[in-house]
Amino acid sequence: MLKTVVCVSGGGTNLQALIDGIGQGTIRNVQIVRVISNNRNARALERAGEAGIDAVCVSPRDYGDREQFNEALLHRVEEAGPDLVVLAGFLVVIPPQLIRRYENRIINIHPSLIPSFCGKGYYGLKVHEAALARGVRVTGATVHFVDEGTDTGPILMQKAVAVRDGDTPETLQRRVMEEAEWVILPQCLDLIAAGRVTVADGKAHIAE
Ligand code: GRF
Repeated sequence: MLKTVVCVSGGGTNLQALIDGIGQGTIRNVQIVRVISNNRNARALERAGEAGIDAVCVSPRDYGDREQFNEALLHRVEEAGPDLVVLAGFLVVIPPQLIRRYENRIINIHPSLIPSFCGKGYYGLKVHEAALARGVRVTGATVHFVDEGTDTGPILMQKAVAVRDGDTPETLQRRVMEEAEWVILPQCLDLIAAGRVTVADGKAHIAE
């Protein structure tokens, strides 16, 4: 069983896709053992509670400085004993000590086809605003392993989504979520739990 901690900050629709996938059996051998949010008002925490999953808030506001928050976050992750950490809309700079402790065991879902529209400042609607401003015809989502950079770790899976004339950042975000994020993140967890994913030489590999 792949014990998984999911870190969230907002609506939790990607978390919900994982919860539903586990319930429907499309995600096998995965147990979400804890949901952690930096935002005490995150709908994602309610979704966790509704699913009977341990839900914890670790807010920077509750700590004197960033290092104390970083240590608290690491502690709350470690005490859940995960095999994998999933960042699902987690709008927090991941502490280096967490990345070192869970090397190649943290994955993130990003709402673009990395390396487009990623890195510092590209999150949430800003990603889709940039895609529309550039006029790309195709965008999508990426699941990647987290390293010490921003959206720079080994790419595990991507799924393309067409941009339609008349799209707004909101309509595009929704389509990318529905057609890409909520599809590839569950698929990646199922693959990792099946032992089919390895990371070597900075690249992620999926065994047939
Ligand atoms: C998603 O668009 C995801 O790609 C990005 O943050 C958003 C989280 O949405 N990282 P939700 O909280 O999963 O609904």
